[in-house]
Amino acid sequence: MSEKIIHLLDIRTATRAAALVPEQPIPATGRLLDTRDRAVRDLRISVTDRCNFRCIYCMPKSVFDKDYPYLARSELLSFEEIERIARLFVAHGVNKLRITGGEPLLRKDIEKLIERLARLPVELTLTTNGALLPQKSRALRDAGLSRVTVSLDAIDDATFRAMNDVDFPVARVLEGIDAAHAAGLTPLKINMVVKRGTNDHAIVPMARHFRGSDHIVRFIEFMDVGSSNGWKMDEVLPSSDVIARIHAEMPLEPIGPNYPGEVAQRWRYADGSGEVGVISSVTQAFCSSCTRARLSTEGKIFTCLFATEGHDLRVLLREGRSDEEIASAIGAIWQARGDRYSEIRTADTAAARKIEMSYIGG
Ligand code: GTP
Ligand code: 5AD
Ligand code: SF4
Ligand code: SF4
Repeated sequence: MSEKIIHLLDIRTATRAAALVPEQPIPATGRLLDTRDRAVRDLRISVTDRCNFRCIYCMPKSVFDKDYPYLARSELLSFEEIERIARLFVAHGVNKLRITGGEPLLRKDIEKLIERLARLPVELTLTTNGALLPQKSRALRDAGLSRVTVSLDAIDDATFRAMNDVDFPVARVLEGIDAAHAAGLTPLKINMVVKRGTNDHAIVPMARHFRGSDHIVRFIEFMDVGSSNGWKMDEVLPSSDVIARIHAEMPLEPIGPNYPGEVAQRWRYADGSGEVGVISSVTQAFCSSCTRARLSTEGKIFTCLFATEGHDLRVLLREGRSDEEIASAIGAIWQARGDRYSEIRTADTAAARKIEMSYIGG
């Protein structure tokens, strides 16, 4: 096995022992706070570490090649196990679930998971690259999905094909967006990761294309997630520049968040033709209001996107622990949480070995 793969496996399997069940039970009262007084409100659930794209900033081909050690089927949480964990998080106060990957629509029978999760009192959303939306939108909507976010890094075909690195045409993602819209998976959001020198020329055309549609484009600063995307600070285009470029052609004005702790900062076109958002996790960190927990495909809880270790809940599930015990373990993990990576990012932390985005979900 190559050194590269040993290194990746090493990172993925770093686990802070099995999640511990505390001696004093921590009841699920919906008011769980971490060491910085942040509640747990969102659970992001990754359902596969595989993807049909090889976006250069996420799954570069040089690392994610045919030898890459993806998780085996037996390692994945079953839909029943995911539903159980989600239900226990909801009891602790979570009101929003987001299904991620890899590419979540590659998970077999994903609509059956949606159907299970849709029974919970939450907003249920999913982030996808859109390739399978033409076939899947209707079934997802019928299963109870509220809406989708589609990743799209340019509106011109050549730039988009170069970003996804599998020569996938932009027209097929646009078909997916139309299918999701027609199925009622709205309001639909479109995420564009901006990499200076690679697709920043695509910012204004992207804004122009979707202006006047009901879709909301959000421009995301390129982040140092994982250890394989070769992140460099000088490839980050600050969101303030993104706004300035759009504003020069299509005047914008700031608007307030939809809910406290919203990740994107919102701007609307002065002429009323819609809104865009920017997600500035590098230049304006938002850790102080971060209410997100992440569940990996194989059942580990990560309390930060940039974590180096997860807490293994699968072990507890498969040991036959009770709901009370697992809820207590979740409570203890959250109460011990102090993460604020983006606020304290340094050259050293950026170079540290971290979990890959395709494994932990966005
Ligand atoms: P909605 O507003 O409900 O659509 O959700 P959202 O704003 O959380 O959007 P989404 O889940 O699509 O997140 C957009 C992107 O923001 C993600 O794909 C990440 O790139 C980034 N992001 C989301 N949450 C975090 C976070 O906790 N930390 C950091 N650093 N980035 C995040
Ligand atoms: N920086 C910023 N955003 C990223 N995404 C994936 N990798 C990165 C990165 N390094 C985005 C994807 C998708 C979401 C899940 O996260 O484009 O929209
Ligand atoms: Fe796949 Fe999304 Fe990563 Fe691109 S960003 S490789 S579509 S998981
Ligand atoms: Fe939350 Fe970690 Fe992102 Fe900060 S860096 S906002 S703590 S996930």
